[in-house]
Amino acid sequence: MTLQDIRVLVTGGSAGIGRAIAQSAQARGARVVINGRDAGRLAATAETLGLHAVAGDVGRDAAGIMAGAVEHLGGLDVLVNNAGWGRSMTLDALDPQLMEDIWRTNVLGAALMAAAALPHLDTAGGGTIVNMASTAARKGYVGGTAYSSSKFALASMTQCWQAELRPRNIRVIQINPSEVQTGFGGSDPERAVNPRKLVAEDIAQATLAALEMDPRGFIPELTVFATNPWEPTG
Ligand SMILES: NC(=O)c1ccc[n+]([C@@H]2O[C@H](COP(=O)([O-])OP(=O)(O)OC[C@H]3O[C@@H](n4cnc5c(N)ncnc54)[C@H](OP(=O)(O)O)[C@@H]3O)[C@@H](O)[C@H]2O)c1
Repeated sequence: MTLQDIRVLVTGGSAGIGRAIAQSAQARGARVVINGRDAGRLAATAETLGLHAVAGDVGRDAAGIMAGAVEHLGGLDVLVNNAGWGRSMTLDALDPQLMEDIWRTNVLGAALMAAAALPHLDTAGGGTIVNMASTAARKGYVGGTAYSSSKFALASMTQCWQAELRPRNIRVIQINPSEVQTGFGGSDPERAVNPRKLVAEDIAQATLAALEMDPRGFIPELTVFATNPWEPTG
């Protein structure tokens, strides 16, 4: 389907992967609203891209974020549940508050945003929810207790929503990026880009390809790895 005039809300659209998705969707004619917690960074991105923004924390202000987006767009066709973050912590160093905070955004926030989107997608006769998961949603690793478990939960919710929502013409698509060079995890977003590793635009390209499929069908899950991220040897 064409994205021309499609109404899209991208959570966590002020930086990284969400920003790249918002920019690419807008370039294809979509009407896009972005969201994030840091109002200053959000406003700067919105001004640069020429987009409308609604500030707020998806884990705490989901209803308000959705109301602001729908008021601007006049409805909703696509929710991109992209807002997310994580920190590495081994079981020995378990920080319960940090784990709860990560789950509040990555799990509860995604669920609250999706629930808030439903009446508007129903009014539109259907639509699409994209859940930005991770390869960490498929395999645990050292230090992944909080983050990887939250993405496993998002993967589980994706399957639940697919079962519930297909009869309402709502597609739910899970994207699993491998490592992407963004500000994720406290990395410097301005660092030198390794041309062998993924960038946000790669994930935007994959996400938009899935969105553009005719609504008759949908891609339940899409995983993106860098082809050859390793330094040459010898
Ligand atoms: N980069 C990777 O290697 C990678 C790999 C796999 C999956 N992912 C996933 O991809 C998504 C985007 O990550 P990224 O790499 O683009 O990270 P990023 O550059 O740090 O951007 C994260 C975005 O989410 C927003 N955000 C975080 N918590 C939020 C909350 N509670 N409510 C609203 N907005 C919130 C941030 O803005 P504020 O901080 O101002 O709120 C920012 O706009 C995440 O779900 C992440 O788990 C990333």
